[in-house]
Amino acid sequence: MKRKILFVCLGNICRSPAAEGVLKAAAGRKGLSDKIAVDSAGTYGGHAGQLPDSRMRSAAARRGYDLTHRARQITEEDFIDFDMIVVMDDMNYESVSRLAPERRYLDKLYRFAEFCGRHPQWSHVPDPYYEGREGFELVLDLLEDGCEGILEKMADE
Ligand code: 4NP
Repeated sequence: MKRKILFVCLGNICRSPAAEGVLKAAAGRKGLSDKIAVDSAGTYGGHAGQLPDSRMRSAAARRGYDLTHRARQITEEDFIDFDMIVVMDDMNYESVSRLAPERRYLDKLYRFAEFCGRHPQWSHVPDPYYEGREGFELVLDLLEDGCEGILEKMADE
């Protein structure tokens, strides 16, 4: 059975669609594509239907990731559909936890930075929206680190 993972940020146009692309690519390299289903969503729906931000797409493309996700807002049903919901920062955590249909569903909720073994100084993935190019590179560094961690966690289970 496929493990279903949903990445969540604020707008679903920078961090979470990039996380989706990075995890899909990492799973593909390890021959695990048929073991996982990956999607992303935002807590804010104002960018629904849009492709990822052009700065994120460019930064990702330089590392070989083609980001084609269309933004959507997270719903309560996502707590039922997905096995893991992985948020980028504390604000996302607060917003998403309020959507849980029942308290026990909070067991599915994780902070992305928990999986970043090479970046112990980061407790969140910072919003790059108002940052320059380095902000997007830092996001990708964190995402590549954490996606390896997520696949290692899955391999252990
Ligand atoms: P994301 O970045 O949450 O990583 O997709 C943002 C995208 C849009 C906005 C803020 C952050 N915004 O304010 O519209």
